[in-house]
Amino acid sequence: MKPFEIAPGVYWIGATHPELRVFDDLLPTRRGTTYNAYLVRGEKTAVIDTVKAFKADTFLDNLRTLVDPRKVDAIIVNHAEPDHSGALARLLDAAPQARLYTSKAARLYLSGLLGHSIEALPVEDHPEVSLGGRTLRFIPAPFLHWPDTIFTWLPEERILFPCDAFGAHCCDERMYDNLVPDLEADFHAYFDALMRPYRDKVLAAVESIRDLDLRLICPSHGPILRTNPKQYPERYRQWAALPEIAKPCIAILYASAHGNTRRMAEAIAEGLRTLDVVVEIIHVTEVDESRLRAALESADGLLIGSPTIVRDVLPPLWRALSLLSTVKVRARHAAAFGSYGWSGEAVGMIEQRLRDMRLPVTPSGLRFKFAPTAADLESCRRFGERFAAETSAG
Ligand SMILES: Cc1cc2nc3c(=O)[nH]c(=O)nc-3n(C[C@H](O)[C@H](O)[C@H](O)COP(=O)(O)O)c2cc1C
Ligand SMILES: [Fe+2]
Ligand SMILES: [Fe+2]
Repeated sequence: MKPFEIAPGVYWIGATHPELRVFDDLLPTRRGTTYNAYLVRGEKTAVIDTVKAFKADTFLDNLRTLVDPRKVDAIIVNHAEPDHSGALARLLDAAPQARLYTSKAARLYLSGLLGHSIEALPVEDHPEVSLGGRTLRFIPAPFLHWPDTIFTWLPEERILFPCDAFGAHCCDERMYDNLVPDLEADFHAYFDALMRPYRDKVLAAVESIRDLDLRLICPSHGPILRTNPKQYPERYRQWAALPEIAKPCIAILYASAHGNTRRMAEAIAEGLRTLDVVVEIIHVTEVDESRLRAALESADGLLIGSPTIVRDVLPPLWRALSLLSTVKVRARHAAAFGSYGWSGEAVGMIEQRLRDMRLPVTPSGLRFKFAPTAADLESCRRFGERFAAETSAG
């Protein structure tokens, strides 16, 4: 795609990747993605971000249609991830006189990615750069979605360049939010995959740009946002905010081949309900990922149950457990339970996963052979009571 002017002296100079089907081997993309890079002209010239390495030629060609790279004065790296820094080495070769501005963390990561140290002016010491008639102001936005991230604000044109924030994996050459159909689904899926684990940081970043009189948001993936641009940070704010719940909330996630682990789950829930807590009991194969995520992030206590099947936890439960890293978990503790026949590994494996996710495991797990007896179910109830008491004690 050819470069285009977004505002007077502000150009898109990125690259498109319509055939991409899974971004970062993590997030399915329906319509590929774009790697957006921008050129800003004042008396001096700045480039904001680059593209993925295999698109470096396209990016440099786009840049050259507008300026001789030797005339680029400043390069801004908002975030060091290779989908935006992949063409940086080539750009630095082509623009040896340019000064590089980035966060200290990004400077460190770039060194690791490029295999040599990088000369860069840290934005912590240089919070803005004047291009003559145009200013680039740097706003820290750590963990959106790497620790290194900054936003760049161009006050004269009221344009925010937030790198990955407010992006969408969506390649449509119309390139503006009001021209691209059905952007909302891609925008939301992107938030869920990349930003949701950092809810608190999202809220902080959105707060820090609250007073900006946004005219345009130029993210690093997908369309430029020009239709009531304030709606986009507002949506992030709503998605990142957790509902206030008056009572402690305990979620039980379980799978069960023959119903034994389910009976344990129900008896544990009875025990939980003897205290003043909200209990959500979820059979993981009956719900979709968004419901699992919502349960994982609103729980103050988490109970995970699986039978042992071929020396392992049931796969749908592994899938549910893998979602722990995709949300901001607020649970104070977690525990495991399950039925087994002879070797009984599942409960220990779940506990290990919970510990790996830095969740305190208490009380230690409960497992019974085959069908739980009346006495076993009574133990489950007591286990539930104890668990709820610990959650409530917080
Ligand atoms: C296909 C299959 C494989 C199993 N593999 C194991 C195993 O490796 N170790 C074990 O302790 N029990 C194993 N079991 C026994 C189950 O853990 C046991 O039947 C348990 O009570 C099932 O609980 P559920 O009703 O919650 O599914 C297996 C059962 C099935 C159906
Ligand atoms: Fe990124
Ligand atoms: Fe990115």
